[in-house]
Amino acid sequence: MDVFQEPGTRFEFDTYDDVRHGFFDPDLSRTFDRRPFEAGNVRHGVVSTAHGELHRARRRLENRQFRAEALRSDEVELAPRVIDEWLDTLLDREAVDLSRVAHLLNAAVSARRFGIDLDRPSLEELTLLDAELDGLAQMSGIIDSKDPERTREIARTALADFERDFVRAARERRAGLIAQRGTEIEQPPDDLLTMLLLHRHDPGLELDDDGLIVRELATYFVGGTSTTAPTLVNATDFLFLSADRDPSVRSRIVDDLAFAQRFVHETLRLRPLTPKPKRYAEADTSVGGRAIPRGSVVVLDIARANVDPRVFGPTANDFDPDREVPHGVFRWGLSFGAGAHQCPGRSLAGGFPLSGDRTITDDHLFGLIAVMFREIVRRGVRRDPERAPERDTRRDTPTERFSRWLSYPVLVDAPSRP
Ligand code: HEM
Repeated sequence: MDVFQEPGTRFEFDTYDDVRHGFFDPDLSRTFDRRPFEAGNVRHGVVSTAHGELHRARRRLENRQFRAEALRSDEVELAPRVIDEWLDTLLDREAVDLSRVAHLLNAAVSARRFGIDLDRPSLEELTLLDAELDGLAQMSGIIDSKDPERTREIARTALADFERDFVRAARERRAGLIAQRGTEIEQPPDDLLTMLLLHRHDPGLELDDDGLIVRELATYFVGGTSTTAPTLVNATDFLFLSADRDPSVRSRIVDDLAFAQRFVHETLRLRPLTPKPKRYAEADTSVGGRAIPRGSVVVLDIARANVDPRVFGPTANDFDPDREVPHGVFRWGLSFGAGAHQCPGRSLAGGFPLSGDRTITDDHLFGLIAVMFREIVRRGVRRDPERAPERDTRRDTPTERFSRWLSYPVLVDAPSRP
């Protein structure tokens, strides 16, 4: 038996309503492989492959990391600090690979957010973390891989390296602080790793395993970086296409963070990072009126659903950050998923949804991607006429990876903040 529990018939859905319906079906799981870690299942026990009560218990705990005050502090303190520390250093050279810049920026944010102690990381440390994250990203790539054995091996090696280079010291420090709680002046930091360690013996969470804690942390790290970084690059790609037609788009992004956010949401709609998530039918069920026998594989085509003309109108395929969307529909379409596995990081990455009348309330959040994007645009990012961008087609078919980049060379007019 390889990845799939049982070979089953494959059903594909691509209308907005069907895909949304599929996301909410409690009989559709993400559990394709039930083997333990030792038998080769590198995602054994992590939140994204858990189902039912275990999945709900994990999400109840971990969602606390994304409460409004934590998101606000990430957006108004953490992200600007990381941008100040890193963006000009990373852009301060003649030819820049924006994909690398985006990954390093997001790795720096995620390290602080999830509990890896890199107080003042060197460029070498950040680069190492980013390289290991690239390997960890293969944990979710096995299902679509052309060579599952090789992909699995890359993921296992990355997990061992990540544990040794980044998690071990952070875990020992937190375990020490937790053991002395109440007697020490220093409190354990409020981050995901501390939370997992504090609750590791809680019944129903199944976290009492050091290896699983590393895998759970890796799941959030990868979820947080392998999506936000390419979205930043995709938004810049759309900027170049839009500015060719209307140069004022640059000043709109810099002067109006709500427009920058709509620009990012439109980018997410047309370039979803998980274009075709898959589900395993735990029981006989039905989606959009079609019967799905137990054991089937269900493919939810977000990329097609996001351009469904019944929802987004006759201009659904056009990039238009000023478009109107129907009430109850997110501007990003289904790019953050829906239902039980809906992305826990959506407000961190994309901010709060923008209402139809575009009213911005005092407590509105714009999301880390919009904040970073605006700073990159402010610095005068331009296409590099000498070097073409290269798409990342390493893991699966090129059509499914149209939203990821291996490199995206750019030129920068003003490396320093004007
Ligand atoms: C542009 C940014 C992002 C996009 C497009 C995105 C997209 C998604 C999607 C589509 C899913 C659901 C997959 C499915 O149902 O099969 C998901 C789940 C998940 N995302 Fe995100 N994500 C983003 C940012 C983040 C961030 C910032 C984090 C962490 C802070 C994160 C962590 C996760 C985790 C842990 C899951 C699994 C949740 C579960 O299975 O219950 N994501 N994401």
